[in-house]
Amino acid sequence: MRRRSFLKGAGVVTVAVAGGGVWRAWDQGVFSAGEGPAYVPWKDWRESGNNNPLALVRAAILAASPHNTQPWLFKITNSSIELHIDTERNVGALDPYLREEHIGMGCALENLMLAAPANGYAATAALFPGKLGPIPAEPRPQLLARVNLAPGEREENELYDAIPRRHTNRGPYDPRKAISPDFVDALNHLPGDHADVKLFLFTAEADRKKIAEVSSAANTEIYSDPDVQHGSERWIRTKWGSVQKFRDGLTIDAFGLPPIATAIAKMMSVRMLRWAASHSTDNGYSNLMLSAPLIGFIAVRDRYAQEQCLQAGRIWQRAHLLATAHGLAARPCNEAVEMVDHERALGRPASRAALLNEITADPTWQPTFVFYMGYPKLSAHASPRRPVQAVII
Ligand SMILES: Cc1cc2nc3c(=O)[nH]c(=O)nc-3n(C[C@H](O)[C@H](O)[C@H](O)COP(=O)(O)O)c2cc1C
Repeated sequence: MRRRSFLKGAGVVTVAVAGGGVWRAWDQGVFSAGEGPAYVPWKDWRESGNNNPLALVRAAILAASPHNTQPWLFKITNSSIELHIDTERNVGALDPYLREEHIGMGCALENLMLAAPANGYAATAALFPGKLGPIPAEPRPQLLARVNLAPGEREENELYDAIPRRHTNRGPYDPRKAISPDFVDALNHLPGDHADVKLFLFTAEADRKKIAEVSSAANTEIYSDPDVQHGSERWIRTKWGSVQKFRDGLTIDAFGLPPIATAIAKMMSVRMLRWAASHSTDNGYSNLMLSAPLIGFIAVRDRYAQEQCLQAGRIWQRAHLLATAHGLAARPCNEAVEMVDHERALGRPASRAALLNEITADPTWQPTFVFYMGYPKLSAHASPRRPVQAVII
């Protein structure tokens, strides 16, 4: 089932259900959003005791990842943590070079680095270079980065504190509430003196309309490919039992629907959800994007350079934490860049890369991540997480 179609079904779900009753509501977790073992990592993330590198991993696993695949594995010693990518945890044809999974690894690295000083460590990260290729046929962990740990000054900051409150918000935003120029400026400065990462931020309506148009068309096109649908569906968790068992993937609670529509959607069968998704309006996605007063690109010099993917992920995680700390919500909207990968994998002309270049007016930067930000109308729910023990090698 298409990720976006699922979300677009919001307008139709309200007519679709009645039966099932209280038992089904209970069984499907209608009354239990954010509860159960799948959500414990959000609550016990500070409970590792002093001077324990595990505390850094507990923070890392709360990071963003594509379709909540959580592709990370960690090897811990007293003086270092290695980050490995588990290439088996992928979304298939939607991310044919694992570019987005590598960005997710960067998100985890950023949380880990923020948790280091908060737990009394001075940390330095070494990112290993490499070029992304097709998804390996025989998956095995690949080392991407090593973080060296030494005793350091203990200090927390607002980004670290925001880690358990950061959730992708897919609900509508308030278009009348502008983002302050100071915040936009702070976002712009996030890459610091990184030579390979840059943010492009758009607040003008004409720019945002153009990006929403390109994204919406890309969304329709990419999810019309059965291979993409197949790779994506593997991570859609419609059953509450699966949410608690697998503790990963996209859940109905995280779709950004109003509370009643969420409850109804949770009680629907997968067949009814498919029907609702296929009868929803087409401009829903672009309207959602345009409800946010800011759309941004994270761009790199080479979107298939392994370490630049990690750097882009670090910036996204940081940007989302900064937004969270300041009461703003955010959501990635990556279909246009996913189409860049898709066209490349299928050997088609690079039409989407050209469209993105038109928007930035600087082809020396390659957009690799698209997001929108604003003040939310609804609060977002947490997504499930695998336990820390499951990601240690
Ligand atoms: C590289 C990357 C790409 C993503 N692309 C999208 C996207 O296009 N649309 C979307 O709604 N969420 C997207 N996400 C958000 C993830 O689905 C989300 O991080 C994951 O489900 C975990 O939820 P959380 O961020 O609330 O913890 C993306 C995240 C990453 C790291």
